[in-house]
Amino acid sequence: MGNIIVVGSASIDLVVKTNMIPKAGETVMGDTFFTTPGGKGANQAVAAARLSDNVYMIGAVGEDEYGKQIIRNLEQNNVNTDYIDIIENEASGTAHITLFEDDNRIIVVPAANSYVTADKVLPKLEHFNAGDIIVMQHEIPEETIAAVVSFAEKHDMKVILNPAPYRKLDHDIIEKVTWVTPNESESELLFENQVDKALTNYPNKLIVTKGASGAVFYSDSQRLVAGYKKEVIDTTGAGDTFNGALAVALIENKTLADAVAFANLAGSYAITGLGAQSAMPYRKDLD
Ligand code: RIB
Repeated sequence: MGNIIVVGSASIDLVVKTNMIPKAGETVMGDTFFTTPGGKGANQAVAAARLSDNVYMIGAVGEDEYGKQIIRNLEQNNVNTDYIDIIENEASGTAHITLFEDDNRIIVVPAANSYVTADKVLPKLEHFNAGDIIVMQHEIPEETIAAVVSFAEKHDMKVILNPAPYRKLDHDIIEKVTWVTPNESESELLFENQVDKALTNYPNKLIVTKGASGAVFYSDSQRLVAGYKKEVIDTTGAGDTFNGALAVALIENKTLADAVAFANLAGSYAITGLGAQSAMPYRKDLD
């Protein structure tokens, strides 16, 4: 079977659960605080590695305790960490998350994740093969995404690009990747409110995720692959779980509709626990 290589961010999430959100200049009392491994890239790697072997992460952490924690957590979750750099005199990435009324607000400080640059990533990708799937998100430099996409095209590797969080995306990149997986709000911004048209322009490539409602793509006609409703504890990491599971299903050569259904099911588990990774499913849960 082929490999899944996540090129992306790895961070520690600092999470506050609160019943009140402060206005500017105001202080309120929170409910609980915890730290837990996160970062969209690492979350996607863990989601994939709970469902499959041969999952690698290419990324960077700082020379600090958080960095050690990030690497330990990936290893405990079956992710190969041989290609994670430790950046001297730099901190690991952090995400500052507020959980309020069934939703999250997130501020990311990339720190070491800014060092996931093309000159570091491309030589590592030389170790992989045609047909392998690379998974990327938007928490690493833009130039890295462009360079990896060109590399993948040259080496017949496939790319899932999860354009989260939103930032401007060159349409040339969308042309070149194999699959692109924005959520509803990211797709509105990317395609300037012309999402239906974009779906037909990018058949079997553009997959728009819609949370519990499922995900939609175009293939002969517009197809909505139904989602699964579960009790919401924390939605953080649900999209990442979708993307990790999608990579697993696609490396196993499932049809796109079946792969999206598998990813929807995996994503639905992720919202049932606190923290991005705590409720990501294992293979036995989905089988
Ligand atoms: O997608 C969820 C992730 O986004 C969190 O784990 C946090 O690290 C932010 O990057």
